Amino acid sequence: MKLSDLLSIHESLELAAERVDDLVPLVYERFFALRPDARALFGNDALGRGRMFNETLTMILECTQEVGYLEGIVEREVGDHREYGATLSMYESYFEAVVQAMQDAVGESWTPSHEESWRRQLKHLMSIVARHAQIADGPLNH
Ligand code: HEM
Repeated sequence: MKLSDLLSIHESLELAAERVDDLVPLVYERFFALRPDARALFGNDALGRGRMFNETLTMILECTQEVGYLEGIVEREVGDHREYGATLSMYESYFEAVVQAMQDAVGESWTPSHEESWRRQLKHLMSIVARHAQIADGPLNH
C-alpha cells in the first residue's frame, strides 16, 4: 500500500474540486487532442464519459491501496473495451490526458509530488491493463 500516493492524489482531487466544477470535459478535451481518432468511438452522451472517468478515479485509488479485486475489474473493462475499439496506446494517451487535466485543474498548487503519485499509480494501472490486453482474444492492436 502506498499511503503517500493515496494522500497526495486525494489532496490534488480536493484542490481540483475547489477550482473546477467538472473535471470530465477537461480530461476528454486533452484526450481527444492527444488522440483525435478516439473521438469517433464515443457517442455524444456525456453520461458514458462521466462514468468512465469516475471508474478510472476509483481504480487509481484502488491501485494505491493494492486491493485484490482490481485485477478482475480491469480484466472485465479491458474485455468490454475491445468492443468499443480501444487500443493499448489509447489507454496510454487517456492516462496521460488524466494527469494533464489534473494539472490544469489544480493550477499553481500542483506539486512535483502530486505529479509523481499520479504517474506512478497510472503506470501501475497501465501495466495491469497491458497484462489483460495480452490474454483473452490475443493482443490489442496498437
Ligand atoms: C482504465 C481506463 C478506463 C476505464 C476504467 C473505463 C471505463 C469505462 C466505463 C465505466 C464506461 C461506461 C460504460 C457505460 O456507461 O455503459 C466506459 C465507456 C467507454 N469507454 Fe472507457 N474506460 C477506460 C479507458 C478507455 C479508453 C482508453 C478508451 C479509448 C477510446 C475508452 C473508450 C470508451 C468508449 C468508446 C466508451 C463508450 C462511451 C460512450 O459511447 O459514451 N475507454 N469506459
